[in-house]
Amino acid sequence: MNYRYKMFYLIFLPFFFQIICGSAAAQTTLKDAFKNDYLIGTALSTQQVLSKDPKAMKCLEENFNSISPENLLKWDAVNPLPGKFNFAPADSYVALGEKYHMFIIGHCLVWHSQVPRWVFQDSTGKPVTREVLLTRMKDHIFAVVGRYKGRINGWDVVNEAIEDNGQLRKTKWLNIIGNDYIEKAFEYAHEADPNAELYYNDYNQWMPGKRAAVVKLINDLKSKGIKITGIGIQGHWGLDYPPMASIDSSMKAYTDAGCKIMITELDMDILPNPFNNTSADVSKRFELTKKSNPYATGLPDSVETKEANRYAEFFKLFLKYKGSLTRVTFWGMSDAQSWRNNWPIWGRSAYPLLFDNNYQPKPAYFSVIKTAEENK
Ligand code: GLA
Repeated sequence: MNYRYKMFYLIFLPFFFQIICGSAAAQTTLKDAFKNDYLIGTALSTQQVLSKDPKAMKCLEENFNSISPENLLKWDAVNPLPGKFNFAPADSYVALGEKYHMFIIGHCLVWHSQVPRWVFQDSTGKPVTREVLLTRMKDHIFAVVGRYKGRINGWDVVNEAIEDNGQLRKTKWLNIIGNDYIEKAFEYAHEADPNAELYYNDYNQWMPGKRAAVVKLINDLKSKGIKITGIGIQGHWGLDYPPMASIDSSMKAYTDAGCKIMITELDMDILPNPFNNTSADVSKRFELTKKSNPYATGLPDSVETKEANRYAEFFKLFLKYKGSLTRVTFWGMSDAQSWRNNWPIWGRSAYPLLFDNNYQPKPAYFSVIKTAEENK
């Protein structure tokens, strides 16, 4: 081999090799990085489902193997008036999930929010009786779960029924039906689709009071022979809350109680918090000020790095539970779509997800993939 060729092999070949391997690594997508661990899901907005924006669809197909509906299966969207159902968006949502062979989630059947008033009232505006409300709950669950039987794989049957201190939230469901409304919802859902996975889903599950109440709920349902498959831990978390050890304790407690677990609504709060509260209580709202929207023109590198590191910490913890943790679902795909831009203050720039406003991967995306690779 003459000298020129030798130099080529010695100097340039390793260089080309690095480029090729490097770009292969960069092409690893979220769902591929975790393919032996758990599903990676995203919530889709109604607009994303109906418009099928090519950028969103590309990002979806490449990175996710599970979907959740942000709003289109909530009671007010799917069953706005007595006996009237608006199934068109949900039909498109399920068809989309099937097209890409995804694990399809239904969210949510019984919740205190986004339920029309008529559900709890008679024609004169007075509260209905326990029997009437149970019948309405059953009819709704049979209509919605029944329509997608065998196609929607798992349902958030009851959402946010427990306060942070572990007491049952004082909702109309509780006031009118009584404590057993949760078990009734699970029974009806199971009757409507015996093969669907059934979940209890809530925020602030890292708090000890709520953790204990959720464990009690699991035990109560199981002791009565009522099916509950898993606990959805909403991950509406921030740069400095909650403590990792508290999430860990809840993941362990639910696993020990015999339930699968899933992180269901993951996103990162990096903006100043106008109230000393870590909940996702959508009824709380505050005024927009300059101070409350510090990154209106772009996210500084230093904050982007903090976000990336925090996401890596979360995913490191999640890997500890692979086997019992079956899914990690982000609450949205791109920063532009997130509810956090408008809650608890309208019109902020919140940057809570792994893809930017243009569906391009952020540093947090790469740090999550790196976490998967380092822990193989
Ligand atoms: C809760 C609900 C979700 C959604 C978020 C905020 O976590 O479970 O459906 O409304 O709040 O977007």
